[in-house]
Amino acid sequence: MRNFNAVITGVGGYVPEKVITNEDICKLVDTSNEWIISRTGIKERRKLDIPGTGASFMGTKAVQELIDKTGTNPLDIEVVICATSTPDYILPATATIIVENCGLKNAYGWDLGAACSGFIFALTQGAALIEAGRYKKVIVVASEAMTTVTNYNDRTTCALFGDGSAAVLLEATTEPFGVIDSVHYTDGSGLSNLHIKAGGSAKPACHESIDNEEHFIYQEGQAVFKAAVTRLVEASEEIQRRNNLAPEDVTWVVPHQANMRIIDAIVRYMKVPLENVMINIHKYGNTSSATIPICLWEWESKLRKGDVLILSAFGAGFSWGSVYLKWGYDPK
Ligand code: ACO
Repeated sequence: MRNFNAVITGVGGYVPEKVITNEDICKLVDTSNEWIISRTGIKERRKLDIPGTGASFMGTKAVQELIDKTGTNPLDIEVVICATSTPDYILPATATIIVENCGLKNAYGWDLGAACSGFIFALTQGAALIEAGRYKKVIVVASEAMTTVTNYNDRTTCALFGDGSAAVLLEATTEPFGVIDSVHYTDGSGLSNLHIKAGGSAKPACHESIDNEEHFIYQEGQAVFKAAVTRLVEASEEIQRRNNLAPEDVTWVVPHQANMRIIDAIVRYMKVPLENVMINIHKYGNTSSATIPICLWEWESKLRKGDVLILSAFGAGFSWGSVYLKWGYDPK
């Protein structure tokens, strides 16, 4: 029995203005609008194209909007966890830049790297800090500049990814709302199917790595697709079973937006009607860890206190999981 639950009390978000359409992609590689839509569901995605800016720029916008919307005193924020696989720098952490930019003088922050599962992992981590009674106000932000690691010469990946950010405020409550349960997994055998070959300590940047285009996402799409469907179904099933949630108990499914066919498969299995599923992949593509909080940001006005949400993500690692949360407020 917990003394405190960690409840989301606000959502902020930011997507860059620049739109890359499927027609734009068709000018770069041998593909078609029909292929991209039928295989992925994606029509367009956003790109951050302000020179010298990266994940912290978008994260700062999202966190600033969150603070403004919730009327939070920036000095009351204690922790910022930034989920990202596209940090501004290898060091320092992107979270430290966001903390500085937003004037969160009493907060400290760190980055969490779990690819597309980053937000749900960070949400559980942030919630645990509150449930333990140590902190009262924690921001979880996901920010991804995926277009910086996308190879626009590779037709198998270049249509998939986009840039964006969103953030939630977690606060302590004694009410029965917030993050109720979560299941998380990693399987390092997925490394060979989905990774960025160079730029880390195993293979630092060098002339050869640049010539070989090794600083971009490498993905074996079919293997990742199969693992994503299997693992997401397993995780959603596990979280529903151990919380006795029937399909009709679930108000909203919030799936990671990687591929419309993956979303269809999970939703069919969960037996939740499509109108209860947050889907915006057609507009933003795969923004990695940011897809789920961007959905919460876009759907915030439709959410009601007590709504049951199942958040599910799968990404590189492999990493995956599901979070069951009870929404804590009506539209303001
Ligand atoms: N346009 C036209 N043809 C293409 C394109 C394209 N853009 N891309 C691939 N093809 C071709 C291939 O070359 C292949 O041709 P071949 O049969 O002659 O060899 C054919 O289409 C089929 O290729 P597949 O890779 O089998 O296509 P698939 O139906 O699997 O779709 C996709 C590819 C969209 C990438 C899909 O596999 C997928 O979504 N995978 C999962 C992605 C995911 O969930 N990633 C996890 C999160 S990402 C992260 O963590 C960073």
